[in-house]
Amino acid sequence: MFSAKKDHLIGLDIGSRTIKLAEILQTKKDRILKKFGIADLPQGAIVDGRIKEPGVVADTIKGLMNDLKVKEQKVAISIAGYSIIIKRITVDKMTDDEMQEGIQYEAEQYIPFELQDVNIDFHIIGNHESNPNQMNVMLVAAKKEIVDEYVDLLEMANLKPCVIDIDVFALERMFEDNYLNEEGNIALIDIGANKMNMNIVKDNISVFTRDVSVGGDQITREIASRFDCSFEEAEAAKIGEAKNKVPEEGIQEIISSFTSIWCDEIRRGIDFYCSTYRDEDIRQIILSGGATQTPGFFDLLSAETSVDVQMCKPFESLQIDEKQNDLDYLHKIAPQAAICMGLASRRVYDK
Ligand SMILES: Nc1ncnc2c1ncn2[C@@H]1O[C@H](COP(=O)(O)OP(=O)(O)OP(=O)(O)O)[C@@H](O)[C@H]1O
Ligand SMILES: [Mg+2]
Repeated sequence: MFSAKKDHLIGLDIGSRTIKLAEILQTKKDRILKKFGIADLPQGAIVDGRIKEPGVVADTIKGLMNDLKVKEQKVAISIAGYSIIIKRITVDKMTDDEMQEGIQYEAEQYIPFELQDVNIDFHIIGNHESNPNQMNVMLVAAKKEIVDEYVDLLEMANLKPCVIDIDVFALERMFEDNYLNEEGNIALIDIGANKMNMNIVKDNISVFTRDVSVGGDQITREIASRFDCSFEEAEAAKIGEAKNKVPEEGIQEIISSFTSIWCDEIRRGIDFYCSTYRDEDIRQIILSGGATQTPGFFDLLSAETSVDVQMCKPFESLQIDEKQNDLDYLHKIAPQAAICMGLASRRVYDK
């Protein structure tokens, strides 16, 4: 239907609670969202970024591929968490090839894991701000064990992993695609079911990243335990769909206590950034991830940080294929799609 280059990948965001899949076609003129879908995972299938039940997760991916009638097998996924170290370092100026050779030496100094246990990658950000003989580099190390776990999972789902990205960088890619020529410091924050990814970009370049173990399922688990109901009932109560089962005030109290902690974590990250790079302030916070829709969170964060807070619009730069996508649905779940849209923008030849 659309004449498009065949170098695109399926974006697959494997969250601990939901799997998101997107396919973007690039034509001469436009980028078109062809497919998008979300499938729920059962509790316990993925815990702390580790795949506990590969069969269940692979079947969920296959089910989603089937429902959306996706034929492509090449995918881009991302990983996150404590098994990944991202460090911004300063080194003497060198070419990409020289950096490739010197990377092990640099990594030894900055990465607290045994080097034989990690995959190492880097991205040259640009010249150092004050020393013309030096450059800034983003160094990334991911534990091989975790990468292998995801590669095995995709094989089980009959898919080919072409790009293994990092959540915060996928978020940044989505930002580049949708927010053109944004200047100043902007904090991209994704809060999912069990983790928060934070990436501060300055003039479109990532300068600070952090992952924190908080998320929407904390609230659901606490409601379930305090009011002795199932996880599903607690989830319905949280999003206001199960009136009377659980007292309203009780839910509000639990939501407030957790969302205050999320705000504290965000403020702590911003304060750290602003104290490290003096004279910088954050111009805007862009929120994504399902848990940022928790009632009251947006207003609380706006009040507590005094920063302009916006919900993420990850479909903004795309034409939507309306035959295959429901616009109301996309609008409703837009924040949840952010990382997946960054992944779906990756191309076969990307690192
Ligand atoms: N309307 C809503 N109100 C409150 N919470 C919501 C809403 N919609 C989704 N959530 C919460 O968002 C979370 C799921 O979001 P998301 O799909 O971004 O997580 P995930 O990517 O699977 O998790 P993670 O990235 O942390 O592993 C769940 O905790 C869910 O309860
Ligand atoms: Mg997620």
